[in-house]
Amino acid sequence: MQTLTVDLGDRSYPITIGTGVLRQEFIAPYIRSKQVMLVTNETVAPLYRNTVYEALQGFQVDEVVLPDGEAYKDLTHLNLIFDQLLHKRHNRTTTLIALGGGVVGDMTGFAAACYQRGVNFIQIPTTLLSQVDSSVGGKTGVNHPAGKNMIGAFHQPVAVLADTQVLNTLPDVELSAGIAEVIKYGLIYDENFFAWLESNMQALRQRDPNAIAYAIYRSCEIKAEMVRLDERESGVRALLNLGHTFGHAIETHAGYGQWLHGQAVAAGTMMAADLSCRMGWITAADVVRIEQLFKAADLPVKPPSDMTPDRFSELMSIDKKVMDGKLRLVLMQRIGQAIVTDQFDQAALMQTLQGQS
Ligand code: NAD
Ligand code: GLY
Repeated sequence: MQTLTVDLGDRSYPITIGTGVLRQEFIAPYIRSKQVMLVTNETVAPLYRNTVYEALQGFQVDEVVLPDGEAYKDLTHLNLIFDQLLHKRHNRTTTLIALGGGVVGDMTGFAAACYQRGVNFIQIPTTLLSQVDSSVGGKTGVNHPAGKNMIGAFHQPVAVLADTQVLNTLPDVELSAGIAEVIKYGLIYDENFFAWLESNMQALRQRDPNAIAYAIYRSCEIKAEMVRLDERESGVRALLNLGHTFGHAIETHAGYGQWLHGQAVAAGTMMAADLSCRMGWITAADVVRIEQLFKAADLPVKPPSDMTPDRFSELMSIDKKVMDGKLRLVLMQRIGQAIVTDQFDQAALMQTLQGQS
């Protein structure tokens, strides 16, 4: 078992990674009072709810079981959490526990940020994507029909417990979606990690426990460092959005849940790589290397064929990184180093958008 700390002063918290961490000794120290609200979904509940109940013996545990899917990550379904909190008379000392993937985690975190102006919550991420990315860093929220994650809050959890064993029930396609975010860390921050992924992709896809544990640990280490440096994303944290401006446009266009988040990030990252190459920052050989790694992870490298440049432009114009009406993108200067910039050639961007359809 390994533990990392997200260092945010008096709001610092541990990320515990390993097998068998869903036990009382790891969860109970982060619960403030007897009240606990377990939030999960209809797929994860039958798999892991009992393990968590066992770990929470002695607490008053109430629960909300959300419908499963990105399509339900909205204000309507967020309200189900508030309904249950009020119905069961939870007060300010309650602790919410998110048991599930990024959808459950983002919604539970947002509910915790809002309920009685803010209560504690614990992240128990059960997908690879949520273990390497969404459970760490305190970005919470829901989607709006006009844009992904447009309504939300920064609200840090008090602990993250990533049990690698739960990944054994994850469908292959979801494992691949998580690998997309793992590849992202190599691309923005660590060329050696990217090279390690090139050598270990088959081991990861076969769920080799050592490979999986290392990939989660290194990803969380990089994310924790970026969050420490820039919790509210006024600088370096934006690099974590490599491929996301294009990717969020794909998710919104396709309809939430049609493209998995990680799949959209993979195709979006290839568009960022294409533009970075057109700017003369990375080489054509780098682009091939990145494409090969996504393909080895069984991830898409092109957006949906019906997405026109106009549609991309329309959806990208509401990206959260837009500043003074100017689109800013995360682009690569080399494998292992990225920047956020509005200094890209508009004609090159248009060529990237046109090259996709
Ligand atoms: P998800 O939450 O939809 O989970 C994927 C699927 O796996 C779901 O059907 C879920 O029920 C199922 N599942 C979860 N755990 C399982 C298990 N152990 N065994 C079997 N099935 C399991 O998707 P995700 O990829 O985990 O997260 C994507 C979401 O995370 C998106 O909404 C995205 O916007 C968000 N996200 C947030 C951040 C952040 O910083 N907050 C970062 C990245 C992504
Ligand atoms: N997933 C991007 C971030 O947490 O900043």
